[in-house]
Order: sequence, then structure tokens, then C-alpha cells
Amino acid sequence: MAEELHISQGTKADKYELLYKQIAEVVKYESDSIALMANISAMIHQTFGFWWTGFYRVIGEELVLAPFQGPMACTRIAYGKGVCGTAWQRGESVVVEDVEQFPGHIACSSLSRSEIVVPIKNKDNDIVAVLDIDSEHLATFDEVDRLSLEKIATLLGSLL
Ligand code: SME
Repeated sequence: MAEELHISQGTKADKYELLYKQIAEVVKYESDSIALMANISAMIHQTFGFWWTGFYRVIGEELVLAPFQGPMACTRIAYGKGVCGTAWQRGESVVVEDVEQFPGHIACSSLSRSEIVVPIKNKDNDIVAVLDIDSEHLATFDEVDRLSLEKIATLLGSLL
């Protein structure tokens, strides 16, 4: 499957559409949140070749590092801090074209230049995690990414 993901052709929206279908197939057979986050992060990462793709789970007053693909990362982020803590606090996705222009951005990697963070809401509408993606290029993420990743987040959240 990884190879199929990597060679998928077409526009970014086409790739997200195929990715969504593949994720929907995979989640049918699993209910464990860590296993789901592990495969979903791998599938997104493999499809687009981002710098870092992963999840942080809400545990108490912090976000705690969860399954991811890419270099090692900060393990704990406080509510309202960084892009991740801001998305959690606002309860909505945050798209950052240039991380150096985002006050309080937490630089887990000096190579990260742009970022998107999407909250994951469970069946009770509580934010239980965030999906965080970093790019080593400026302004990588647009409305297609936001809407497509929110669709994936809704699918995952419906299982949690
Ligand atoms: N840049 C994030 C921290 C997490 S790493 O990017 C993986 C932030 O500002 O919240």
C-alpha cells in the first residue's frame, strides 16, 4: 500500500481523495486509538512526503506526543502554547504559512518552515488530540489541505 500511496498521480485534491478512501478502509478493521493514529500518520506522510506528520493527545492540561512519522519531536505542549496548543485552545484548525511569523511557535525542528494543526474531536465533541503536520517549505498548506485533513480528522474522531 505504501508504494501505491507514493506513486499516486493527479492534483493534491485527487491525492487526498484517494488517501481518504484508503484510510476509511484501514479504520474499518481497527478501534485502538494509537494503532489508528500510527497508520493514519504513516499514510499521510507517505502520500505527500511532508517533513513531520503526527499526533499529540490531550492528557490533562497538556498535549502529549503520540504516533508520528519524521524526526524526534517535543513530547509535551501546554494548552494555548505553540501552534498545537493554539489549535486546541481555539478549537479550530490553524494554518501557518511561515512559522517564524507565528508568535510562540515551538520549533521542534529548525528545518520546519510552515505548519498545519487540526483538532480531533471525539463523539462527544471534546478535543482529544491534534493532527500536526510540518513542512520544510514556506506556505505548503492551503484550503485544500485544511478541508481534506479536517475530513480525515472527523473520520478518526468518530471512532474515539
Ligand atoms: N511546532 C509545533 C510543535 C510540534 S512540532 O512541530 C512536531 C507547535 O508550535 O506547536
